[in-house]
Amino acid sequence: MKTCNCLSFLIWTCMIHEIPTLLSPKRTSMYLQAERIMGLSKDQGKAMHRTKRGWMWNQFFLLEEYTGPDTQYVGKLHTDQDKGDGNLKYILTGDGAGSLFIIDENTGDIHAAKRLDREEKSLYVLRAKAIDRNTGRQVEPESEFIIKIHDINDNEPKFTKDIYIANVPEKSGVGTSVIQVTATDADDANYGNSAKIVYSILQGQPYFSVDPETGIIKTALPDMSRENREQYQVVIQAKDMGGQMGGLSGTTMVNITLTDVNDNPPRFPQSTYQFSSLESAPLGTSLGRIKANDPDVGENAAIEYSIAAGDGSDMFDIITDKDTQEGILTVKKQLDFEKKNLYNLKVEATNTHPDPRFFYLGPFKDSALVKVYVEDVDEPPVFNIPSNLIEVDEDVREGSIIGQVIAQDPDATRNLIK
Ligand SMILES: *[C@@H]1O[C@H](CO)[C@@H](O)[C@H](O)[C@H]1NC(C)=O
Repeated sequence: MKTCNCLSFLIWTCMIHEIPTLLSPKRTSMYLQAERIMGLSKDQGKAMHRTKRGWMWNQFFLLEEYTGPDTQYVGKLHTDQDKGDGNLKYILTGDGAGSLFIIDENTGDIHAAKRLDREEKSLYVLRAKAIDRNTGRQVEPESEFIIKIHDINDNEPKFTKDIYIANVPEKSGVGTSVIQVTATDADDANYGNSAKIVYSILQGQPYFSVDPETGIIKTALPDMSRENREQYQVVIQAKDMGGQMGGLSGTTMVNITLTDVNDNPPRFPQSTYQFSSLESAPLGTSLGRIKANDPDVGENAAIEYSIAAGDGSDMFDIITDKDTQEGILTVKKQLDFEKKNLYNLKVEATNTHPDPRFFYLGPFKDSALVKVYVEDVDEPPVFNIPSNLIEVDEDVREGSIIGQVIAQDPDATRNLIK
């Protein structure tokens, strides 16, 4: 305790009752007395709640956002020199003196004239002195003290975004981090729980969870499939007072999209396809398209078609249309109905970007049987001599046999020479 002859301030709180030995400011000539703290009235303050703020020198505490009927009582300036005869005058200067903080110059009582917002200004520095009205002399030298504005929970947690957008791969393991959401609270983080935020999930279970402390959103179900459901709208709440009842809260929305992984092999919808081609079809002629289905997207659905086996592997080609992921069957060698009129091909569709993690779901290819029927064409007869030049005498008689040509029809019997 300061015992020098300079002005000392003493505030006593309810702790007065607990530490009576501190209560003998014999040599203290002037002190401040905070009779009402944390919004309790004078009468309540004695009987009820004891503030555990501790013993503080030169500080007053004042409740922010006080909405009681009267002006809020801050405390009292007092000096031993005050005989109660009205001879002394208390003077207050500094932050807000005369406007926010009004002193009764006779009694030394200080009141707050307005509502104060801690989030605007949390600390006021003031100076006090006492002068003799008759002589105008200071009976106490000026001394500084502080009024601290005490926090109440008047700010709800606010998220940094109204809506968050996030992605997570489908089939991610339980507990995979998706995104972190953050809420802030303007109340005093160093006092009480007014700024202590706890996160909870209001919508989005059982698919997702949120860490109550960090606001990290994680997957909560194994094997979530994009092909089953792609979009989730999750609602997260941040509540202060450590999440207790009576806390203030704010919410935010998180749009989560499952991204694709290659967890689906291509599959032909039918086991057999049939095509036909004129035997005369020029090389490169397209005979038709086949398509294996793959529910994945992008490169995870990319397919390469090939002829794996069959009696026509050298006669046909299959090429892949990269835009539609279809296989196009084309003629590679000249067909001949008379030589072979039906081919059987084993065609394969293979994923080009398989993911080893999902090989247990494989194989990531499929095959189908493709039958190609070759159709006959009415071909011109073929003469057995290249040029039918027969020399005839000019005087030959009508009806005479002048020679013989032999023609063969390469077509089958139904295309007889007429
Ligand atoms: C979030 O998801 C909802 C519902 O699916 C949708 O209506 C909204 O447009 C999405 N918002 C954004 C920014 O993507």
